[in-house]
Amino acid sequence: MNSDNCIIVIFGASGDLTKRKLVPAVYDLKKRGHLPDRFAILGIGRTEYSEESFREKLQADMEMEGDEANSSFFQDIYYQSLNTSSPDDYVKLKDKLTGLDKQLGTEGNYIFYLATPPRLYSLIPGFLSEQGLNSEERGWKRLIVEKPFGTDLQSARELNREILKYFNESQLYRIDHYLGKETVQNILVTRFGNGFFEPLWNRNFIDHVEITAAESLGVEKRGGYYDSSGALKDMVQNHLLQLTAMVAMEPPASFESDAIRNETLKVFQSLKPLNRDELDNCFIRGQYTASTIKGEKVKGYREEEGVDPESRTETFTALKFYIENWRWGGVPFYIRTGKRLPTRVSEIVIHFKSTPHKLFKKAFGTQDNFNKLIIRIQPDEGILLKFGMKMPGAGFDVKEANMSFRYSELSSVEMASAYERLLLDCMHGDSTLYARGDAVEACWEFIQPLLDYENSDDPPKIYGYPAGSWGPDCADDLIEGEGVTWRYPCKNLASDGM
Ligand code: BG6
Repeated sequence: MNSDNCIIVIFGASGDLTKRKLVPAVYDLKKRGHLPDRFAILGIGRTEYSEESFREKLQADMEMEGDEANSSFFQDIYYQSLNTSSPDDYVKLKDKLTGLDKQLGTEGNYIFYLATPPRLYSLIPGFLSEQGLNSEERGWKRLIVEKPFGTDLQSARELNREILKYFNESQLYRIDHYLGKETVQNILVTRFGNGFFEPLWNRNFIDHVEITAAESLGVEKRGGYYDSSGALKDMVQNHLLQLTAMVAMEPPASFESDAIRNETLKVFQSLKPLNRDELDNCFIRGQYTASTIKGEKVKGYREEEGVDPESRTETFTALKFYIENWRWGGVPFYIRTGKRLPTRVSEIVIHFKSTPHKLFKKAFGTQDNFNKLIIRIQPDEGILLKFGMKMPGAGFDVKEANMSFRYSELSSVEMASAYERLLLDCMHGDSTLYARGDAVEACWEFIQPLLDYENSDDPPKIYGYPAGSWGPDCADDLIEGEGVTWRYPCKNLASDGM
């Protein structure tokens, strides 16, 4: 599908996201031939750059030299310095866009990408509208808003209300980059493009579902932001609940944006509210402490730059919850995420129920159920199905066997980054993989009692865990039952459990 000619206007152009994710994603789109003939990036920031020095900065950030740096891609990048909180400065922006339109023939089609500090998300749309830059009289206008979309239920509602005064829901693209990951989209194809998974995909055959997003890095240079956020807001409210929706949703009637987004909303609306009395048994918070990983000393969270030395912000969280509907009634969902865990891996594990009659109980030993489907989101993306097989020889010894699919085996396909996919979708006007306002609010509604508990006079405990471990021990108590534990994944699917 061809994209319309357009300009991507990036607010926060001198920031980290622009150099690490956005411009490289557009560069890859260009390499794959996905950009329209007439196209430009217009960077907006406070810093004074000339167009040439902004291009040079990006080339240096992206470590490009020679032919790559001289590619025509960088000629399509422009810059305008302005104070984003000053309404008068938006006259300059309008003039710049009008000039570029004339020069390039981009026909008034603009994507405004908000990659600024979040407090500006509610201001910029109003300032754009004062200059008529939200009007679709000549060319379409789309607004992409980075996360975090609000810091709690009330602020998310206010932000929705404020932005929707100036842009319609159909113009609004709330980004959650997990939805742009190839493997996340493949959950829908695995479930709804095959006949044999879906009949088993319910409470009758599934014992429990486990979702892990583990990171080996700490908070790096983002201590200031992270300390006011924590794992619950940074990862669970958005990415992990979106993964939950992909696993739990009903088949949509079609692959239209709203058909899919209606189904994900229903999942969020069916999340069983977590009451304060139950929270101590289903909500674990941890914070990494100093440790030595592979011979190297690693700081504890409270020693990180920008972090309050007495911080109670969680860098690990684990949660047990239920989805109250016919498909999932009684099936526990366990999610956990954390920084400074042993490895970087995100995966979903569907634990199927064991056989009703244990013919081979002895041979299975302590583990009496091998049946798991592991959807590896990253790295070593793929799918692994585990089942029991007879060991050759006398008797009936049963051993775990694996059947796997790995994306790396599709050598001809280089996977697009999440931002690449999402930016292209926005250029096509397809919001399927962006979060709708009602869904974002429903996620915050589910999380809000946990935030209230954290902010109360009698907050939940926060447990230390040594950097490089799998989080506090008590996270195990959340899930442990007869023959049930968290899965401790390796980085590599091929060596996983074989
Ligand atoms: C971001 C969080 O949204 O997702 C980061 O703010 C986190 O703290 C990141 O590290 C993880 O994304 P990915 O794609 O590396 O799993």
